Amino acid sequence: MPTPQLPPSVPGHWLFGSGLDLALNPIGFLGKNSKKYGGIYRLTSRFKKMVIVQDPDLVKYVLQDNNKNYIKSFGYDVLGLLLGKGLLTSEGDFWRKQRRLAQPAFHRERLNAMVQTMVTCTKEYMEVLEKKRGQQVDVSKEMMHVTLHIVGKSLFGSNVTDIVEAVGKEMDIAQELAIERISNPFKLPVWIPTPGNIQEKKSIQMLDKVMMDIIEKRRKDTAHYDDLLQMLMEAKDEDTGEQMSDRQLRDECMTIFLAGHETTALALTWLWYMVDQNPAEIEKLRTEAEQVLQGRDPEMGDVMKLEYTRMAIEETMRLYPPAWVIGRRNVEDDTVGGYLVKANSNLLIPVYQMHRDPDIWENAEQFDPERFRKDKIKEKHRFAYFPFGGGPRLCIGNNFALMEMQVVVAMMVTRFRFTLVPGHPVVLDPLVTLRSKHGMKMLVE
Ligand code: HEM
Repeated sequence: MPTPQLPPSVPGHWLFGSGLDLALNPIGFLGKNSKKYGGIYRLTSRFKKMVIVQDPDLVKYVLQDNNKNYIKSFGYDVLGLLLGKGLLTSEGDFWRKQRRLAQPAFHRERLNAMVQTMVTCTKEYMEVLEKKRGQQVDVSKEMMHVTLHIVGKSLFGSNVTDIVEAVGKEMDIAQELAIERISNPFKLPVWIPTPGNIQEKKSIQMLDKVMMDIIEKRRKDTAHYDDLLQMLMEAKDEDTGEQMSDRQLRDECMTIFLAGHETTALALTWLWYMVDQNPAEIEKLRTEAEQVLQGRDPEMGDVMKLEYTRMAIEETMRLYPPAWVIGRRNVEDDTVGGYLVKANSNLLIPVYQMHRDPDIWENAEQFDPERFRKDKIKEKHRFAYFPFGGGPRLCIGNNFALMEMQVVVAMMVTRFRFTLVPGHPVVLDPLVTLRSKHGMKMLVE
């Protein structure tokens, strides 16, 4: 059989190749090429082999069918400095074992216990927001505050309120420095004591100490807890009876903290922006929340009934997927879509562009939650819409996140409305996650 050819390539700068165009303007570059080269194409770069995979069938192949050949790419090594060998950053048998241990903590029945935490945190936050009525706020920071508290309390129970802010702050510092390392190839290695590297180390040490203290205290505590830490601590490997060590617990808690708060905050931020841009939507959300909740706090049973709220959240994540790109690296040569993908290539899956593909979505740029009515979305390819990824590495917190967002939106929408401050520029900032470059300045009404 003849050896398959390499995928078509995008020409670019004589020295840096088209990898430079991607680095300078990722959304523009990927958008421009999304209909030009078919399902798979290659960037010219002397430094890295880079391949873009943008066809739902081929994405399924990479993330699901042949997932063993596709490990996490470079960015995850960098995150490993902070997260250790947590679920997001580990591979192979170690990952599989950890995933098996952690999975039950995220089952729907287990999430029941978390709804109360979500409601309490949202209520506390709404009291803070009440004092800001009539003022301009950065909604992305506000949402970060809510989701940080929700994930913090879901992990460690209610007695950690005072440390949540401190952990959030240090985590932000460590995360920003990690992002800088991912996006700036000229950043000095971590062992060189630059001010940034020293700060990063200090933040990680502080986070280590806080997490280890909590774990140590909990090991000695005989009281009953209903939080994620307790579930992770009690989880036992069915075959070997093995449980997580303190170090593993630390890595998983750090991972859940990080993976669980910014992504959700971004989705909520984009949702408030979308409903402000589409004023009819706010009424639909409010009507549903009033009908379902009738002035009560949400309970697990209500979450299922907040159907339009779910659809609006899903549609927001179609247009603004917080994880806007998914990266992989292949261990061995492979044939994808009839083309040769050489071992150790960096594959990029452009979720943002695929979610806006006009061949898949009618009026793709338009915000229309109706697309996500259950019977309609069922007809779409599994990998036409995948804000939580797919295959075995599917986001473990997907149900948690959806439930959390439904609770926050339904509770807030009956009391508040955010309106974009006129003239505030909404510019995409596609780093590791899809942020808004200048935040989201909105008036609280
Ligand atoms: C809107 C919110 C969220 C989005 C868009 C999101 C998105 C994603 C995506 C795309 C992945 C797969 C990455 C890849 O395959 O390379 C992932 C993995 C993961 N997410 Fe989420 N996530 C969200 C919320 C959460 C929450 C709330 C938690 C925890 C409470 C969480 C914990 C994790 C973990 C631990 C992984 C790694 C799973 C594994 O590889 O086994 N995420 N997430």
